[in-house]
Amino acid sequence: MNLKFSNHIYEEFMKNIKRHFKNSNSSIHKARNEIKIVCHKNEELVIKSFKIPHIINKIVYTFFKDSKAKKSYQNSLKVGQFAPKPVGYIEFRKFGLICETYFVSSLFKYEFTIREPLTNSSFKDKQNIFEQFAMFVYSLHQNNILHLDLSPGNVLIQKEQDRYIFKIVDINRMRFKTLSLDDRLKNFDKLWAKDEDMTTMIKSYAKISKQNESYCIDKAIYYSQKNKDFKNFKKRLKGIKVVD
Ligand SMILES: Nc1ncnc2c1ncn2[C@@H]1O[C@H](COP(=O)(O)OP(=O)(O)O)[C@@H](O)[C@H]1O
Ligand SMILES: [Mg+2]
Repeated sequence: MNLKFSNHIYEEFMKNIKRHFKNSNSSIHKARNEIKIVCHKNEELVIKSFKIPHIINKIVYTFFKDSKAKKSYQNSLKVGQFAPKPVGYIEFRKFGLICETYFVSSLFKYEFTIREPLTNSSFKDKQNIFEQFAMFVYSLHQNNILHLDLSPGNVLIQKEQDRYIFKIVDINRMRFKTLSLDDRLKNFDKLWAKDEDMTTMIKSYAKISKQNESYCIDKAIYYSQKNKDFKNFKKRLKGIKVVD
């Protein structure tokens, strides 16, 4: 067993994570991984239980690479206020190999994700949300943070008076380095944004970063289209219907 927590108040909770996870009825997301909310000493926590890796990856995560739970925790510590507060992570082994892993963070009470304004063309205040989102991404970039999976479900948004508060989740894959303009523009490619919405975001991004607006828009749309084409190509290969 390998365990780390941000504060000793979480030690017992983390050690009993399997029980807490099993006993919670509030599953908020279930795909590859499952996410549940649990209440611990009046604090609402989010437990992410990662899909058990197949045998090859069990070996990889045990001997060669950090587990996704460990990466999520370490990256949360690095990015600070940009993500929900980290609580801890724990890895369990079976026959000496890493098997079940959990990452815990505090619940961020978001009202919507960036998916809603991206998919609903009449979403209230959508222009403003995109502009503020561009500023948020800019400040990540200025802090040398690159979220490698900046997809719509990974951007949580809360409204506070006239401004929006953004948090990134699903942060096991990140890079920390000085970013070129192309790295920055490419970072918007997984949002699956319509050209019109991408233009709104990138206009704002170009303005605060004092870059040429039309160059930035063209590049961002180019990367986004490349990502859409690639994903659609993979879907067609699998015989799945393509939406965009
Ligand atoms: N700390 C958190 N606070 C609130 N909601 C969260 C938190 N972490 C995850 N979620 C919710 O769970 C969803 C999936 O989490 P994520 O880490 O992206 O899992 P996956 O790897 O399966 O995509 C998010 O889109 C969000 O709705
Ligand atoms: Mg996600």
